[in-house]
Amino acid sequence: MKLLEPIEINGMRLKNRIGLAPLLNMPAGEEGYINDQTIRWFEARAEGGAGLIMTGAVGASAPPSPAQQGVFGFRGIGLYDDKYIPGFARLAETVHSHGARLGVQIGVIGSVMGGRGPSPPPYPDEMHATDELFFIMTGRRTPHTEVTIEDIEQSQRDVAAAAARAKAAGVDCVLLHCSHGGATGGCSFISPFYNRRTDKYGGSWEGRLRHPSETIQKMREAVGDDYPILVRICADQLLGERGITPEDTTEIIVPALEKAGVDCFDVSQGDMIRAGEGITIPLYYRRGCFIHLAAAVKQVTRLPVIGVGNIFDMDMAEKFLQEGKADIIYMGRQLTADPETPKKYFEGRPEDIRKCIGDIGGCGNPCTVNYDIQERPIPLAPAERARRVLIIGGGVGGMEAARIAALRGHKVTLIEKEAQLGGMVAALALNPLTGEFRNIVDYLTAQMRKLGVDVRVCKEATTSDVEELSPDVVILATGSSALIPEIAREKPGVMTHSEASKNIRAIGQKVVVWGFFGVELALSLAEEGKDVVLLGRGGEGSLGSDLSMARRWWLLRKLTDINVPRETPEAVRVGNPQVLYNVAVEDITAGSIQVNIGGNEQRKRALPYDTLILSQRFGERKANDSLFDELQGKASEVYKIGDCSQVRGIQDAIFSANEVARKV
Ligand SMILES: Cc1cc2nc3c(=O)[nH]c(=O)nc-3n(C[C@H](O)[C@H](O)[C@H](O)COP(=O)(O)O)c2cc1C
Repeated sequence: MKLLEPIEINGMRLKNRIGLAPLLNMPAGEEGYINDQTIRWFEARAEGGAGLIMTGAVGASAPPSPAQQGVFGFRGIGLYDDKYIPGFARLAETVHSHGARLGVQIGVIGSVMGGRGPSPPPYPDEMHATDELFFIMTGRRTPHTEVTIEDIEQSQRDVAAAAARAKAAGVDCVLLHCSHGGATGGCSFISPFYNRRTDKYGGSWEGRLRHPSETIQKMREAVGDDYPILVRICADQLLGERGITPEDTTEIIVPALEKAGVDCFDVSQGDMIRAGEGITIPLYYRRGCFIHLAAAVKQVTRLPVIGVGNIFDMDMAEKFLQEGKADIIYMGRQLTADPETPKKYFEGRPEDIRKCIGDIGGCGNPCTVNYDIQERPIPLAPAERARRVLIIGGGVGGMEAARIAALRGHKVTLIEKEAQLGGMVAALALNPLTGEFRNIVDYLTAQMRKLGVDVRVCKEATTSDVEELSPDVVILATGSSALIPEIAREKPGVMTHSEASKNIRAIGQKVVVWGFFGVELALSLAEEGKDVVLLGRGGEGSLGSDLSMARRWWLLRKLTDINVPRETPEAVRVGNPQVLYNVAVEDITAGSIQVNIGGNEQRKRALPYDTLILSQRFGERKANDSLFDELQGKASEVYKIGDCSQVRGIQDAIFSANEVARKV
């Protein structure tokens, strides 16, 4: 297996070819110190089998105040002072004790997003960081100042000193961050889009590459010839000809940085401000979606190349290595979701791997599917005495509760009224756009079998079933149901969102999706060739506001006229579904829905439909909790988890399941 072949980067030997990608939301202590939680986070991933553990970007220069560590709202780790060396030494020792190597990511000054860019806005092409989309997404505008030559020189000295500190602490390599467009100084300087300087740090490729190249040379002087310096590059800024293109990368950037003295290329893409899909990749993208860029870089260098991007699957990682597309594969979100991914795979238990669902609801801060990632999870300890636990409802919350209870030694029965397990999440996973949701359903279903949970499907549990089984503990995970508005009741062609998801074939040609929760369903029905109108109460900015930033970003680009780059084929503006904002539904008659747009009498319209899908938000669903009251006095301990406790999302279902099942 190629994954298990060791590899060397300038004298650093990695035991295998899986690495943890740099993730900024790694836990950090007060004032930038590494704390116990930081150690636990990285140790879990080293113990889980990754050969290379890379930190997210750490601070190479002192922040304005000790409390302001970190960037973009994450609490950061510092490396701008010798006081941080002991923490890194402890981290390196911990990572080494599991046979893995530790790298530290550092960056230079000049991040547009961080407020001090290579050139001041506005840029000639329409908007830049202050654009509407960035504002809608973050509530922030990013006016910035231009960094001076003194700033640049100071930053280069800081980065070199930070690299020397990493080496002194026993860290095995450093990674210079020159990727992700306006997010980093390295990439902001290289990018023709952001760097409009006319001094020696701009003006031409040579000028734009000068800041990172000089930094690499200074790092080299600080750490010596035999210490690995890696660089993370942005091989495609996803801004077309206006930004860094793959050709710029292979023809100019890679040779220049190689000449400057790097030992390995880590190949990423995108622009955090304008084309975020390279960094926080929405789940709509195919797996391994930018490995072609690593493959292109491999064609022009003999140095080792790291490939990354939506790789959740060890078979895919192996395949990319076999095909020579990369020498090492990073996993970011997958090792967040399951730190033991490599170990389980190498031990031949792939069914035990909890795959990432690509949701970017938190990614470590915390992760949607990994409860243990939090600062203070309830420990998973064997139960003091084995009890009979009955779980009613086999959605992801119910199955997670069953998994945890069984792992703790309880005897678990799970009753589900449908023929299939997975509930609402399984229904949503039938939509190709959210197909990655299937990962958590498949994982939990496999665990039911492996852990010997007594699963009874096609059975609607009643109080008499509970009395008959007489469990010690009942956990209700019966989910929620759509509240059907009065005017939609008993009208032909009306379906709830989950009915429609499960029954795509029954959907007619003319579709109206009522409620922005249905945005992804509307899009995939349109892609199937249906004529779709999506309508909701809110304005443009409210589209996808319940979703993670990455999903929302992509949807806004696809469906609104907000002025943003749309160079990537996946992000082009589409006309089907037609989206109607600020809509009040006034009446529904058979085959027609009467709406009032923006409260304006002139804009009343009747929309014909074959199928009307009710896609309400969480607040328009009701908890299925009637059994809870009925069971009072009939079972000694009854708990509610997931939607039947409070209507929310996947993470809450999984987390509330853990909070109950780890205690009973
Ligand atoms: C929450 C989050 C934080 C990230 N932080 C960093 C970072 O500090 N430095 C960096 O180079 N990339 C960062 N990335 C990008 C990842 O390193 C990685 O390239 C990306 O997640 C794609 O890999 P994956 O699909 O395996 O997660 C971050 C991504 C996410 C989702």
